[in-house]
Amino acid sequence: MRLLILLILIIFLSKSNSVFIKQKQNQIPKTNNPYKLSNGLALTPPMGFNYWNFDGCETNLINETMMMNTAYAMSTNGMARVGYEYVNLDDCWMAKSRDENGNLLPDPIRFPSGIKHLADYIHSLGLKFGIYGDIGTTTCKGYPGSENYLEQDAKTFAEWGVDFVKMDGCNMQVEDMKEAYTDLGKYLQATGRPMVYSCSWPTYAYVENITMPFDYIEGICNLWREFQDIRDDFTEWTQILDEMEDSLPKRSQFAGPSHFNDPDMLEIGNGLESNIEYKSMISLWSIIAAPLIAGNDILTMSKETLEILINEEVIQVNQDPLGLQGNRVYQNQGLEVYQRTLINDSYAIAMFNRGDVQSDITITSDMLNLTNHQNFNIRDLWSHTDNGTFSDTFTASVEPHGTIMIKLSPKINNIYLPLKYRKHLLK
Ligand code: GLA
Repeated sequence: MRLLILLILIIFLSKSNSVFIKQKQNQIPKTNNPYKLSNGLALTPPMGFNYWNFDGCETNLINETMMMNTAYAMSTNGMARVGYEYVNLDDCWMAKSRDENGNLLPDPIRFPSGIKHLADYIHSLGLKFGIYGDIGTTTCKGYPGSENYLEQDAKTFAEWGVDFVKMDGCNMQVEDMKEAYTDLGKYLQATGRPMVYSCSWPTYAYVENITMPFDYIEGICNLWREFQDIRDDFTEWTQILDEMEDSLPKRSQFAGPSHFNDPDMLEIGNGLESNIEYKSMISLWSIIAAPLIAGNDILTMSKETLEILINEEVIQVNQDPLGLQGNRVYQNQGLEVYQRTLINDSYAIAMFNRGDVQSDITITSDMLNLTNHQNFNIRDLWSHTDNGTFSDTFTASVEPHGTIMIKLSPKINNIYLPLKYRKHLLK
């Protein structure tokens, strides 16, 4: 009997010890974990507005009236309803120098009521407010940079009620950016105010051909600019798309909820491209889970521009909760197919004709790697019509520079069943 008790005791001790060791082992990586941004924001790609693409800094259009009117327009014209929420400043909002205590100041002519006043107004509309800064000595246009002021500026942004920080990288060595972007992320987080954190580090690494640690930046920024600045030009933005698809390491692997690749803001409505091209742009930006930051003049845009920006079926693809970035799965002489995996075993497909003549593009189940012969309903996301069933192939005629964007949903989703039965079937 004693022997038995002793045996049980030994087994118990050895077990509890191994549990203890296990717990200890589990704790080790936690305490050694490198810093991770955890603001719980940007679970899907951020959507909003920024004036840079239509305005730059050249005119006197950038001021608090323009920003407030834009925010008001967004809150009433359907943009806010479909998800555009961040109303963002870009370069040239600042005064040329800091105050005597080193605080950033707004340009007194453009923003006489101050930045907090602007943020409060934007918040009163149910929208969010974004700001621009630069991690180096000065911004790209020569306004005060945040180098040596990272903590102070993070606090200022929080006090003003900022919800989104675009941190540019002019006038800093790329080699110093890892530390600087990490530090600013920590300071932003330490303020306790949730602020989406957009980093431009990879753009500057790209320009200087310096290898970028994407597996690192995806842990410290909510989004990161990848390539050169976009222009309102079909050839130029398709080049950015190529860079996104062809550059190594494959960018899509780093995207997910709270961390997205950013090919730059939209040019839709800026006037130098056709609406066909603008529709292609938002279709492809949605497939690659890119932030949708409207870069056009919201106050003067045409009805057609607005309709392109607020196509809810396309935006639903962009905002799919899985947050997976799609990829190009086929290309041949300017005819291309892009595929993004969506929630509920569905897929978004963009059939993109980069060429100058109307052409047929065919998708096949092999091309899309759908080998279980599932039948899908085809929904055309621009004509808003159902377009038959996909089992093995589907062909569409696509206009030059145009995109046919469809969603494939497993056929069972459309069988009519009362909700209580559907829930079980769709599990
Ligand atoms: C850089 C950025 C642009 C814009 C300008 C402002 O070029 O990439 O998006 O913010 O700076 O100067």
